[in-house]
Amino acid sequence: MSEFRHDTPRLTLRDWRDADWDIFWEVTNTQPVMRWLGGVADEATRTAARARVESYQAEHGHTFWVVERREDGALLGFCGLKRSNQAGGPQGMMEVGWRLREDAWGQGYAKEAATAALDLAFDRFGAEEVIALTVQNNTASWGLMLRLGMERREDLDFDSADFDPANPRIIVHAITRANWRAS
Ligand SMILES: CC(C)(COP(=O)(O)OP(=O)(O)OC[C@H]1O[C@@H](n2cnc3c(N)ncnc32)[C@H](O)[C@@H]1OP(=O)(O)O)[C@@H](O)C(=O)NCCC(=O)NCCS
Repeated sequence: MSEFRHDTPRLTLRDWRDADWDIFWEVTNTQPVMRWLGGVADEATRTAARARVESYQAEHGHTFWVVERREDGALLGFCGLKRSNQAGGPQGMMEVGWRLREDAWGQGYAKEAATAALDLAFDRFGAEEVIALTVQNNTASWGLMLRLGMERREDLDFDSADFDPANPRIIVHAITRANWRAS
């Protein structure tokens, strides 16, 4: 099967290659990046995360793709689409997610990658609605959700101690195809 590859003005979203994983963990498995994701990941957690990302690709044809900067080929992190599967939360909904290395924050890369992922969700993968999840304290993540035009869906909120044990509420935002088109 040919590699998934989608270009934006500054970025490429693409399938994972074996060699990406060591680089990905090197640049993203840091305290600032992992702050609201349960902290720096040990080897077992990293192995399980890789297996999940690979299973999404195998089962759905989409995943949290590698985000590469076109200018220099640097691996910035991931962004893409999965089906929601967090225990206690909504199941099987199209979900957009993101994680970038710290030195790539504050430059609009996450918004650029997420915009492409939402276009793909509605145009290529048939979504009628896309959700995004984060903990209440992750203002950078839910700020991005709002900048993308997503709206709070308190009815879908749930608790999970996997990310911020001190405040386990997971908050949900969503956008419909019609609202994405209109934005
Ligand atoms: C969540 C995350 C991806 C957000 O990244 P981000 O860089 O803040 O988001 P954006 O790409 O929208 O960039 C926004 C910032 O870039 C600035 N910017 C600069 N150039 C820009 C451009 N060309 N276009 C848009 N914004 C631009 C904006 O002004 C804004 O700055 P501000 O934060 O000072 O207000 C990032 O914080 C992250 O990876 N966090 C760690 C992992 C994580 O928690 N993931 C989410 C789990 S739920």
